[in-house]
Amino acid sequence: TSYEYILVSTPRPGVGLVTLNRPKALNALCTPLIVELNDALRKFDADLSVGAMVITGSEKAFAAGADIKEMKDKTFASAYGTDFIENWSDLAAQIKKPVLAAVNGYALGGGCELAMMADIMYCSAGAAFGQPEIKLGVVPGAGGSQRLTRAIGKSRAMELVLSGDNFDGKKAGEWGLAAKVFESPQECVDGALGLAQKIARHSRIAVKAAKEVVNKSQDLGIREGVEYERRVFHSLFGSRDQKIGMAAFAEKKKPEWENA
Ligand code: HXC
Repeated sequence: TSYEYILVSTPRPGVGLVTLNRPKALNALCTPLIVELNDALRKFDADLSVGAMVITGSEKAFAAGADIKEMKDKTFASAYGTDFIENWSDLAAQIKKPVLAAVNGYALGGGCELAMMADIMYCSAGAAFGQPEIKLGVVPGAGGSQRLTRAIGKSRAMELVLSGDNFDGKKAGEWGLAAKVFESPQECVDGALGLAQKIARHSRIAVKAAKEVVNKSQDLGIREGVEYERRVFHSLFGSRDQKIGMAAFAEKKKPEWENA
């Protein structure tokens, strides 16, 4: 498939890479871009040779937000009537394999929200995050007020959403929004591809279950969450990879997963 707003590749074994590629608009996330992104991620999700995915942008911009020019004339009826922004959630709700975001440059508004939908975020120290919607007379619309608050706490999230101020990649790391912070954009992308490759070498079925149980912690209370985890743990004793993995340990060998 050839796309207009994204580039798709498999730069390392088991790793699918989507590069947002709308340089003239700093990767502003217009609806056709989101449709292409969803299509590419869904194809990687279905591709047996892919174990994990990375989304990145350019050195200058991961994404400078939803497309303001596309939004400016919308009415309530057209926004509500077309469920504007709802399809952005496909990434968080429908993709079962791990998705990493490698964030360099601007990640503002919808760009910050897209990065926060990823399962793991890596960034460079100079990345510029923020939820500037307040300066446009609106509020975050793709989960920013919810995901930022869970990730960094209410007081800091409130400060950022109400002020519209940016924060840099170094802060994102200190606050735990990003799992790792790199000096340069290139190191950030390499780091994300390296982690994706490592994940892709693990048992596919175990990786799928691991993502599922960690995500449950966001929806369930601790008691139900721990019970849910235990059920999934029990269920993996019905997989071949559990036998392969534990037998390999006992025999001091490397496991050869069913997916390998
Ligand atoms: C549409 C955008 C855009 C955006 C940049 N561009 N951001 N177009 N939507 N979000 C376009 C500019 O209009 C310009 O096009 C080109 O990209 C280059 O941008 P410049 O502003 O000239 O670059 P620079 O001076 O380097 O400034 C970079 C910037 C600034 C600080 C990131 O572009 C900016 O403030 N952008 C808007 C950031 C923002 O408010 N994002 C939140 C959007 S609301 P031309 O044609 O003039 O060259 C949002 C809501 C989410 O995301 C809720 C639902 C998802």
